[in-house]
Amino acid sequence: MELRTIVQNLPLAPTMEVLDVGSGDGFYMALLAERLTAPGRIVGLDKNEAYIAAARERMAAAEVKCEFEFRHSDLKSLSESPPQYDLVWCAQSLYSLAEPVSSLSQMRAAVRPGGFVVVLENDTLHQLSLPWPPKLELALRTAEFQALREESSKPEKFYVGRRLPAVLAAAGLEPLGVKTYCIDRMAPLGDDLEQFVSAYLQDLFERTTRFLDERAIRQIAEYLLPSGDSYLLREPWFALCWTNVVAWARRPVGD
Ligand SMILES: C[S@@+](CC[C@H](N)C(=O)[O-])C[C@H]1O[C@@H](n2cnc3c(N)ncnc32)[C@H](O)[C@@H]1O
Repeated sequence: MELRTIVQNLPLAPTMEVLDVGSGDGFYMALLAERLTAPGRIVGLDKNEAYIAAARERMAAAEVKCEFEFRHSDLKSLSESPPQYDLVWCAQSLYSLAEPVSSLSQMRAAVRPGGFVVVLENDTLHQLSLPWPPKLELALRTAEFQALREESSKPEKFYVGRRLPAVLAAAGLEPLGVKTYCIDRMAPLGDDLEQFVSAYLQDLFERTTRFLDERAIRQIAEYLLPSGDSYLLREPWFALCWTNVVAWARRPVGD
């Protein structure tokens, strides 16, 4: 629901041409398409063929009034085409791209002067607020920082959510605004959300275990064990907050 609201708030007119960079399974393509009417057009660009296939399937099943197409290619390919889009949208994909400023410069090249680049991203440190002891959370997020430094040559990109306007400006865009959307949920979470959050935490735990001390490992394991008495996600009055940062910018008119 909140993600639809984010798309509803974008500076879109029905006949715009929109590019979704890192379109994945087409989740946002379908939401963006709800805002467009032919000759308005949504283009999904992704370098992963399986994701393009999933997005095709989703869009074929959606009731859309706009045109849509897919580009199975790398973001880098945008520099070979003339600027043709009114808005480039990039959701939860900046972490996956090589480096934020160069990636946003490539998106800028695809936008007509005066058009928009909009990014939705998290900040890894503040992505998820959970009702567990702050000391444990600090240990886990510190361990995550150590893990990211080993996993990536650009670990700072996972904390880009806190500096999106500055990064957009460094890419030659004019930042216009930034807004943090909080997705709040209380117990009972429902099966899908519980599975999603549980998988996220298990993955985080596995990646960070070797940087945690034995006490923290034992405590986190207890909080994450579904059959245990301390299972966090089914605690009475459990509540979580998931944050998404949206920042929007314009390609300068005389660019
Ligand atoms: C975390 S997923 C996000 C998908 C979608 N935007 C969403 O929020 O549901 C990141 C996507 O970016 C794509 N991607 C990563 N690097 C890319 C690149 N250099 N060029 C194009 N797509 C890329 C991946 O294949 C993946 O589908």
